[in-house]
Amino acid sequence: MAANRRFLLVRRPDGTPVPDDFRLETVETPPLAPGQFLLRNHYVSLDPAIRGWMDDAPSYLPPIALGDPVRATTIGRIAETTHPDYPVGAWASGLNGIEDYSVCQAGGFTTLVDETAVPSITNYLSSVGAIGVTAYFALLDLGKPQPGETVLVSGAAGAVGSLVGQIAKAKGCRTIGIAGGAEKCARLTADYGYDVAIDYRGKSREALAEEIRAAAPEGIDIQFENVGGEILDAGLLALKPKGRVILCGLISQYNSEPQPAYNLWQLIVQGATMHGFILTHYIPRMAEAIPELAAWTRDGTIRIDEHIDEGIENALPAFLRLFDGSNRGKMILKIAD
Ligand SMILES: NC(=O)c1ccc[n+]([C@@H]2O[C@H](COP(=O)([O-])OP(=O)(O)OC[C@H]3O[C@@H](n4cnc5c(N)ncnc54)[C@H](OP(=O)(O)O)[C@@H]3O)[C@@H](O)[C@H]2O)c1
Repeated sequence: MAANRRFLLVRRPDGTPVPDDFRLETVETPPLAPGQFLLRNHYVSLDPAIRGWMDDAPSYLPPIALGDPVRATTIGRIAETTHPDYPVGAWASGLNGIEDYSVCQAGGFTTLVDETAVPSITNYLSSVGAIGVTAYFALLDLGKPQPGETVLVSGAAGAVGSLVGQIAKAKGCRTIGIAGGAEKCARLTADYGYDVAIDYRGKSREALAEEIRAAAPEGIDIQFENVGGEILDAGLLALKPKGRVILCGLISQYNSEPQPAYNLWQLIVQGATMHGFILTHYIPRMAEAIPELAAWTRDGTIRIDEHIDEGIENALPAFLRLFDGSNRGKMILKIAD
């Protein structure tokens, strides 16, 4: 038995989460049932989707129950086991909770991970995990980018967006990234190979639309949407005939009311399509993407930046970085050495 600190959801947030929505408790780890193993979590993936799981609303996963640890993908070493395929000391990952120790069983999202296949074990939470697989399938399977096409990406300096830009570039596309602030926009071109960077901050929907049209005078073939709201609307006005809009995320409205999309009529006049992407539909195909993403991560074809904050007590401020834009790469919380 070991002391297990757990970051619990105790109240459903109203808008941006606040400290009173959570409680850090310490309990002892329970004994294992046959077939289970105990994972000592070292790193926690902080993802915008967690905000949706805090609401009592229909979604692709059930809401986090009040009093349960905040659900998150974690990676750690097996500390105890009753499962022959999950030996003590091995690295494993799964959809667990923000807690020191998680009781796990085989199946679902749980998997052993090979630390020798990647430069850093944390890559399994970034370019070789859900983030990489999302960028890979949402762009390649739904967007079907062709050489010479123009791809517009919002949230372009973030974890998913930075990978989408680089994969699109590797497929021979011209890439336009939208991000907040001069420093992030400089990184779009210098670090992630974007051809054009657009800073959305302080701009009206009309001014943003004008800037996108100037950057893509012949129009946008693929609009990869991570943000929604006015940014989505501005991009729709630049769609080419038969353009494809990939809805990957709408982070601008996760802490607020949904925003209207005024320019949906562009889908009609351009004969364009809009396609929602959800990673859970691609779990059976993860094995197609992971080896290629691992190879690209190893050989530098893709650059992945990881923003690692430390300490379970910092779970909330670290999570909120995703919404104020102060994360510089895939947001990860380190909770053990
Ligand atoms: N569909 C799926 O299966 C799936 C899977 C993974 C992720 N996603 C989605 O992908 C998107 C990116 O996730 P990520 O994990 O890679 O996070 P991230 O992009 O690394 O971090 C979030 C970024 O969003 C931007 N942002 C936050 N609030 C904003 C607002 N109100 N307006 C404009 N930009 C805002 C900020 O960048 P700026 O500083 O540039 O504003 C922030 O850094 C999210 O929408 C997420 O839900 C979807």
